[in-house]
Amino acid sequence: MSGRRYLVLMGPPGAGKGTQASRIAEEGGMCKISTGDLLREAVAAGTELGRKAEKTMKAGELVSDEIVLGLIRERLGRPDAAAGFILDGYPRNVAQAEALDALLAELGQPIDAVVLMDIDPAVLFKRLTGRRSCPSCGKVFNIYSAPSEKGDRCDAEVHAGIEAPMLVQRKDDREDVIENRLRVYERETRPLVDHYRDRGLLRVVKADGPVERVSAEFLRAAGGG
Ligand code: AP5
Repeated sequence: MSGRRYLVLMGPPGAGKGTQASRIAEEGGMCKISTGDLLREAVAAGTELGRKAEKTMKAGELVSDEIVLGLIRERLGRPDAAAGFILDGYPRNVAQAEALDALLAELGQPIDAVVLMDIDPAVLFKRLTGRRSCPSCGKVFNIYSAPSEKGDRCDAEVHAGIEAPMLVQRKDDREDVIENRLRVYERETRPLVDHYRDRGLLRVVKADGPVERVSAEFLRAAGGG
């Protein structure tokens, strides 16, 4: 990706936001900032914030705007964010979008583009039920489309020479919770599509193809590559 970019990545659960944000951020020397990852880290660490968020996340509901804004404010305030970032999973409702505008105005880093990952809902269920991740290094797999070379253990280089960790399934990737997450997306987050289209920031990327093809389209849409 050429030049410094401040990007927001939107799309329903399982659209591939985390997958693409990691690839594009690595390639472009940008920060990937995922509120889902920050919240899961807080839950795993057993912090007070994590304890507050855990039940809500397990039910597939949105954590309070106040909590996530606190996380985002802290993360965007770190020096590496000034070099460019991809926000994955924030904002998720209109109130969060307004809070983000105010925060980025303070930081002097207005959004360059909002990339919407557009996907046939029928594909999402299989992606989410098939997702597995490494509890140690965070690498994400899919038993259907991107299995680990080591079966149910992580194949990342960082575990070379030791017994690699067993992969785990996210607690909110249970079928009943997935259904609720998709409902919450339609009700709370979908309205942001018009919000950003009206501001001339929205770029739409077809997200059902292979990972590499989606990345190429993403780079074109977001103004690089
Ligand atoms: P979050 O972690 O943000 O979850 P999400 O938005 O539901 O998105 P996912 O992480 O499930 O999917 P993804 O689009 O990143 O897909 P991925 O790349 O992993 O949020 C979790 C929870 O935290 C929320 O429910 C809420 O409680 C809370 N939260 C977070 N942010 C919040 C906020 N701002 N406000 C309030 N609450 C908040 O891909 C999925 C699978 O598909 C993987 O297995 C992957 O390998 C595979 N895959 C990816 N791309 C492809 C492809 N092109 N082809 C085939 N397979 C693919």
